[in-house]
Parts: sequence; C-alpha cells; structure tokens
Amino acid sequence: MADRLRLGVNIDHVATLRNARGGALPDPVRAAVMAEQAGADGITAHLREDRRHIRDADIDAILQAINIPLNFEMAATDEMQRIALGHLPHAACIVPERREERTTEGGLEVAADQNRLADFIAPLRDAGIRVSLFIAADPAQIDAAHRVGAPVIELHTGAYCDHHAEGDAAARDGELARLVAGAKRAADLGLEVHMGHGLCYETVGPVACLPEVAELNIGHFLIGEAVFVGLPATIARMREAMDAARA
Ligand code: PXP
Repeated sequence: MADRLRLGVNIDHVATLRNARGGALPDPVRAAVMAEQAGADGITAHLREDRRHIRDADIDAILQAINIPLNFEMAATDEMQRIALGHLPHAACIVPERREERTTEGGLEVAADQNRLADFIAPLRDAGIRVSLFIAADPAQIDAAHRVGAPVIELHTGAYCDHHAEGDAAARDGELARLVAGAKRAADLGLEVHMGHGLCYETVGPVACLPEVAELNIGHFLIGEAVFVGLPATIARMREAMDAARA
C-alpha cells in the first residue's frame, strides 16, 4: 500500500467561475496556493481546447506560485503536447475531450488507438513528465495502457459517483467492484493507480481504502463545498475522510 494517499485538488471550477464574468476573479492561482496550504499534495488543472477552465497564462502562474506538483490534464492533441513540453509539469493526465461535453464523460479509448498514443506519450515521458491515462476500469483499457508505456492510470469514478447520487445502490456497488478489480489488475501490471471524477465525502471512502490507489483527484465537489465553508475546511475534511478510510 502506498504510505500516504495523495490528494490532488482540481482548481478548474474556480476558473470556470472567473470565466463566467470574463475578468480576473476568483483567481484559480489563489485557490491553488490555498489548497497547498490546506494540505493538498498536488494541484490538477485541465487546459481544454476551448479554454473553458484554466487559460494558457494560468499554467505559468500556477507553476510559479505552488511548491507541490502540477498534474496537467490535457487531450492527446499536438497543441497540448507542445504546451506540456513547453511548461514541463510534474505530471500530465491524458483525457478524452469532446467539445460539446459538460465534463470528461468517459475514459480514454486506449485499446483502439494504441500506436498513436504510444507515439504521443513518448516525448512527454522522455521530457520527464509522469504520464497518466484517464480510463474506465475496463481490463482491455488497462492492459492497453500498460502496452503503450504509461506508468500511471487514473480510473474514472464518474459512473460510481453518479449511481450513488441517484440512490441506485446496486449499480453503484457494481461500478465499485469494477474499480476494485481494475485497480488490482493495474497494480499487478506494475502501473501506479489514481482515481477521480465526481468524488465527494460520501463516495471517497470505498476508493480511498483500496491499497493499490496512490492518488485521488477531486475538484467539482471541493470547489462547490468551499462556497459554503471555505476551501481550507473543505480540503481538511476530505483529507480526514481519506485518512479514516485508509486507516
Ligand atoms: N480526474 C480527471 C482526469 C478529470 O478529468 C477530472 C475532471 O476534470 C477530475 C479528476 C475531477 O473530477 P471532479 O471535478 O468531478 O472532482
């Protein structure tokens, strides 16, 4: 079991709020610094093709402001590869991206796109960036992630969390079982396992306790909850929930 389960705080939705008015506030860089002070182990941010979350200038500003790793979420495009190589974040998480989607809805299709993805991630890895692939807990995708040379996978917890929110315990538990099996399969292949998407206080425990999981990336819930109780208190409570599950 990884000693300490890392919490990556995704600050995209501070940027979403800023962008709603087109100005400078609220500042996602301030959120990143505050998250670090509150105990985040990393900052995650997704530069989407349409720049609906962070913008290009935010990347440098975040990198300069924080002393913890930046996990740069990006689509597998030439533009994003150029940007990642220009900034050299600690980590890059490759995600599928469709312009019309509200959020990253599914996992990356690795199995059907192996050669292209292998070529795509090689220069990132050569530059020292720790590459992860955001995938469904599907054995075919996990095996393909291993084959293309990704050292890390992030398993998509969105369906598990959606079923929980809908009150469908049987479907939720089915998704959780897939995540448990997927984490084990990946760890057996030597992959580092992360998880994320849609996690909240109620859903975090059953994934935080999995010994194979090294990192959780959580954004929307934390930023939403912070509106009511503040970001430090929200992060501290999430940290407690993770630690309690791990203990
Ligand atoms: N991990 C990945 C790869 C994501 O794309 C996202 C959403 O941007 C998250 C984690 C965080 O999801 P949420 O904002 O729902 O917590």
